[in-house]
Order: sequence, then C-alpha cells, then structure tokens
Amino acid sequence: MNNVTIMNHPLLQHKISRLRDEETGTNEFRSLVEEIAMLMGYEALSDLPTEEVPVKTPIETCMTPVIAGRKLAVVPILRAGLGMVSGITALVPTAKIGHIGLYRDEETHEPHEYYCKLPDPINERLIVVTDPMLATGGSAVAAVNFIKEHGGKNIKFLCIIAAPEGVKRLHEAHPDIQIYVGHLDRELNENAYICPGLGDAGDRIFGTK
Ligand code: PRP
Ligand code: URA
Repeated sequence: MNNVTIMNHPLLQHKISRLRDEETGTNEFRSLVEEIAMLMGYEALSDLPTEEVPVKTPIETCMTPVIAGRKLAVVPILRAGLGMVSGITALVPTAKIGHIGLYRDEETHEPHEYYCKLPDPINERLIVVTDPMLATGGSAVAAVNFIKEHGGKNIKFLCIIAAPEGVKRLHEAHPDIQIYVGHLDRELNENAYICPGLGDAGDRIFGTK
C-alpha cells in the first residue's frame, strides 16, 4: 500500500516485544513507548527539509545543514498517544503540541470526541499524529478528519501496533497521509482489541484499571 510503512528494525521489534509482555510494569512500559516513538520518529522525519547555515568550527567556517523552519506539530490522540510525545520532542524540541481527546465506546467501538486543541496556524505545519494503537481505525480517521477540517494538510500518523483492518480503513479514508506502523499484528478480536497486541495501551501507560 502506497504511503504505508511497516517498520522492521530489530531494535524497534525488541522493544515492542517487551511492551507486549503482560509482566512489563507501568514504569518500563512508559519508557519503552517513549523510546519506540523516538525510533519511529527518526525514520518518519527522514524527509524533513534542511537549509544550509554558516557555522564557525575551531578550524574554519563552513556551510552546514540544519532543520529548516520551526513548523512541526505533534498531535497525540488522548490518552495513549501522549506517551509518544516526549520521544518525538526529544528529536525536535521546538515542535508545537496539539491534543485530540477521543475515547472508544466500549460497545459500538466508535470514537467520541471530548477535547481538541491544535497549534495555530496548523495549515503550514508538518503534523505528526501519535497513537500507540490503530485497531478499527475509527479514532485515527476521526482525528485526521478533525485536523483536515482545521486546515491541516501535511500529516503523518505514527502507531506502534496496528491491525490490518485499521490500516486499511485509515488508508482508504485518507490515502494522502503517511502511515508508519511499528508492527502489523494479526487481527482484531470480538471486542475490537488487537491480537496479539498489548492490551489497553492507555491503561498500561497510566497505570489505570
Ligand atoms: C485506544 C487507542 C486508540 C484507540 C484505537 O484508545 O489509544 O486511540 O483505542 O482504537 P480504534 O482504532 O478502534 O479507534 P481508547 O479509546 O481506549 O482511549 P484511551 O487512550 O483514553 O484509553
Ligand atoms: N485500544 C487499545 O488500547 N488496545 C487495543 O488492542 C485496541 C484499542
């Protein structure tokens, strides 16, 4: 599928395996989500534009590349996407941060919006949406709809684990956005949880339930 990148770096896969383990506690889980986001961000931001600036080294002055402009926005889908933000801002500390609050109805699995705030103006920014889990794809599609309604155009979606159903739904709804997946899992179960997955990402990051 065009615009869908399934990552397979061994360091990333190792960390995702640790994340899946039900014995992994909140503290380690949080650190792993942050580290994985950083590794994924490193790859997803490999096409960031640069510009040459003069720098005086101890030897001589040279022209050397830096990231052009300050136009990145990280937009986590609450709650679980929050866990990935620090991994991306470690790479681009000047990034602005938006928030999209969605929760899935436990019965219908459809997303419900409860909070949205984006950096202004959003239209000229590269927008990195983060959510560890892409299950049915309902939350991701709703988040990208919202961003586009507010003028966002250049969007990348980063998820740690995805179900094939979610990737298909997001790609079909928004073929223009770039989707990065840490690991593509087998399927959804009858409760729309990813199998084998890692359980409820929000609960594991925040230690709830
Ligand atoms: C989880 C997850 C995604 C969503 C994925 O959030 O973090 O946002 O489910 O499912 P979908 O692809 O079927 O929409 P949840 O709604 O459980 O909220 P939480 O992060 O607050 O726990
Ligand atoms: N949300 C989660 O946190 N985990 C899943 O497996 C599906 C949706």
